[in-house]
Amino acid sequence: MTKIENRLFSGVQPTGDLHLGNYLGAIRRFAPMQDKFECIFCVVDMHAITVWQEPEALRQKTREVAAAYIATGVDPERSIIFNQSQVMQHAELAWVFNCVARIGWMNRMTQFKDKAGKNRENASLGLYAYPSLMAADILVYRATHVPVGDDQKQHLELTRDIAQKFNNDFNSQIVAEGFEDGQFFPQTEPLISGPAMRIMSLRDGSKKMSKSDPSEMSCIALMDDADKIAQKFKKAKTDPEPLPSEADGLDGRPEARNLVEIYAALSGMTPQDVLQEFGGQGFGAFKPALAELAVSKLSPISSEISRMLADPAELDGILRKGGERAAAHAEETMKHVREIVGFVS
Ligand code: TYM
Repeated sequence: MTKIENRLFSGVQPTGDLHLGNYLGAIRRFAPMQDKFECIFCVVDMHAITVWQEPEALRQKTREVAAAYIATGVDPERSIIFNQSQVMQHAELAWVFNCVARIGWMNRMTQFKDKAGKNRENASLGLYAYPSLMAADILVYRATHVPVGDDQKQHLELTRDIAQKFNNDFNSQIVAEGFEDGQFFPQTEPLISGPAMRIMSLRDGSKKMSKSDPSEMSCIALMDDADKIAQKFKKAKTDPEPLPSEADGLDGRPEARNLVEIYAALSGMTPQDVLQEFGGQGFGAFKPALAELAVSKLSPISSEISRMLADPAELDGILRKGGERAAAHAEETMKHVREIVGFVS
């Protein structure tokens, strides 16, 4: 098995509505990656069920995420697009990782604390082990790069810790398997830098925009129509000051900063350029310009997603084919893992 140099993996959960944070922090960055990497894009339906999902809605949302990948330019022939549950090796490797990772590591995961809330005893065991399955998603392909938003940073650090502990624990078996440097799993690089890696809620500039936010107004959904987008930006929380002309004038103004960063990310400008154009103007002028820009970028994508959702059989076929291709790669890794760990096969 040769060393993999340039394999990229990313995943999105098919839960709730895809939103501007998912788009700017992750999905829109996927298509350009195809020029530099061998790409695998997953719809992580097994992660989704760590909290309750209506089965029919889960199926529908899985297709919607796959359609969003394609609508933003991912080519299902060139790259692999599939849903996680079709490739059983993810769950198999996750179990091995459950036995490599330590409980103390899991206890430090902030996403678990946020999602489990106060009633931690009642959270699913799957939610607790979520980061171990995420490490398996990435490492079952021995992926070298993972583009994600800033909120996934801690999970990627854990993925590197799990890879390293596996490589250390099984060092002699790994070398005996023919991996002379002992590095069976790579130290995967997160790709998080760039603008808009953390888009905040439109109602509270200290909270990230999230699918699970109870306030619908906090979040621009990818499938929102023009009126809804305009209405949500209009109602977005701001302060009474006009926009500053320099970026450091945004310090201490998280809501203003968020809107400027969204504008910058959507237009391809720097926040400084945006302020050059809008500095001195109030939100009464800036918000409609932002809404217009967002509609012009998002509406071609949402129409394409709707068009594809009208033919679920076609999307299911793409996911099935992608699943077969992904499984071939994953099985290559697992053959070695079973040998390394000491399973009889
Ligand atoms: P998920 O489904 O919550 O989000 C999908 C992607 O969107 C990014 N994102 C954001 N980026 C900027 N601002 C925001 N407000 C925002 N909200 C979400 C996320 O960082 C992510 O890149 N655990 C992952 C799914 C996953 C995964 C993986 C990702 C499972 N296995 C393996 C990469 C590799 C998650 O919950 O993403």
